[in-house]
Amino acid sequence: MKKRPPLLGNLTIREFLRDYWQKEPLLIRGAIPNFTGLLEPRQLWQLACEEDVQARLVTLRRGKYELRHGPFKSEDFESSGNKKWTVLVQGLNLHLPAAGELLKQFDFIPHARMDDLMVSYAPKGGGVGPHFDSYDVFLLQGTGHRRWQISTQSDRSLIKGAPLRILKDFHAEQEWLLEAGDMLYLPPHCAHNGVAEDDCMTYSIGFRTPAYQELAEQFLVYLQDRIEIEGMYADPDLKMQKHQSEISNAMLDQVEQVIKRLRWDRQDIANFLGCYLSEPKPHIFFERHEPVLSAARFRQAAKMNGLALDLKSIMLCHAGWAFMNGEAYHPDKQDYPLIRTLADERVLPPLPSISDGSANLLYQWYLDGYISPSKGVKRK
Ligand code: SIN
Ligand code: CO
Repeated sequence: MKKRPPLLGNLTIREFLRDYWQKEPLLIRGAIPNFTGLLEPRQLWQLACEEDVQARLVTLRRGKYELRHGPFKSEDFESSGNKKWTVLVQGLNLHLPAAGELLKQFDFIPHARMDDLMVSYAPKGGGVGPHFDSYDVFLLQGTGHRRWQISTQSDRSLIKGAPLRILKDFHAEQEWLLEAGDMLYLPPHCAHNGVAEDDCMTYSIGFRTPAYQELAEQFLVYLQDRIEIEGMYADPDLKMQKHQSEISNAMLDQVEQVIKRLRWDRQDIANFLGCYLSEPKPHIFFERHEPVLSAARFRQAAKMNGLALDLKSIMLCHAGWAFMNGEAYHPDKQDYPLIRTLADERVLPPLPSISDGSANLLYQWYLDGYISPSKGVKRK
C-alpha cells in the first residue's frame, strides 16, 4: 500500500509532486487535524516588537493599503481599534522550536528549496490584498477562519504607487473558507486574496525560487574571491596611434585573452550554490553558547546526548561537501554520512563513536554557535 502522509490528504507525496507541485493549486481539508497554531496573537505581537525579527504591519485605510516595518511597539497593535489590519512575522522557525518542528513535516521538499515559516494575525477584515507570489507556498490555517480566493489570471498588473504589490484587477475564480488545520497549496504566480473572517492566524510555509539573474550575479561575486590570474598588461611592441583616445585592437586582444582564461567547473558551481543557499539572512547573528564547553567536554556531551542544529542554522550537503551558514566544509570521507544526517535531521542521536575529524569539525561549529549538545547535558 502507498504511504499516505496526513499533510497531503489522500495524496501520496509522489502524486502531489507529479500533479500539483509548481503546477496547480490544491486545497487540503484537515491537513493537520487538531492544529490550533503555534502561538497566541499576543505572543506574535511580542515577537514583532523584537529587534532581530522581521515584521510588517499592513493596514487598510479608506480602501488604500499602508505598510510599516518592525520592530513595533505593543501600542501599535492595541491602538489599531476596528481598522482592518494584519501583522506578519517572517522566519518564525528561527525563533520558535515548534515552528522548526512544523517545517519538518514539509521535509518531502528538499531543504535547498525551503525558505521560512511566516505567520500572520488579522482581526476580521484584515489581509494583505490580492497579489501573487513568485514562490510556492502552503497556507496553513491556525486559529480562526480565512476566506481565500484564487485566480489563474495572466493579467499581473499591479496598482502603481502602492506600498505592497497589489493586483489592479483581481478576478476570483475559486473561493474557500479555511478553518484550523486546513491548508491551501499555491504554485508560484497564482493570484490569491485572503481575508480574515474573525481573529485569524495563518502560517505560510514558503519556498525559494531564486531568479536566474540573482544566481548569475551572486556566482560572479563568489568567483571574484577565487580567481587567480597572474601577469600584468604589457606592450613592449607599442605602436604610434593615429587617435590617442582610441583603445587599440591590440589592447583589446590582450585583455580578451586574459578574460578567456577565467575558468570554473561543476565543483565551483556546487560550492557556490551550497554557500549561497545556506547563507543566513543579513539580520541573523549567531552567538557562542556560554559557558563554553572544552573540546573534551563537548565530545563527551555529544556522545551522551547527541547534537542539534541551532534554530537559525541552515545546513546543506552535496557529494562529500557540507555547507553550513554560507561556508563550505569538506569533512573526511568516513565522516560525511554522519554530517549529512545532521543536515537531514537537524539533530544527531547520542554518538557512541566519533572520529577525531568529526569531533573537530563539530566543535568548530559549536564554537561558532551553529550547533549545540542536545538538552540534558550540564555545561560545566
Ligand atoms: C497572510 O497570511 O495574510 C498572507 C499570506 C499570503 O498571501 O501569502
Ligand atoms: Co501571498
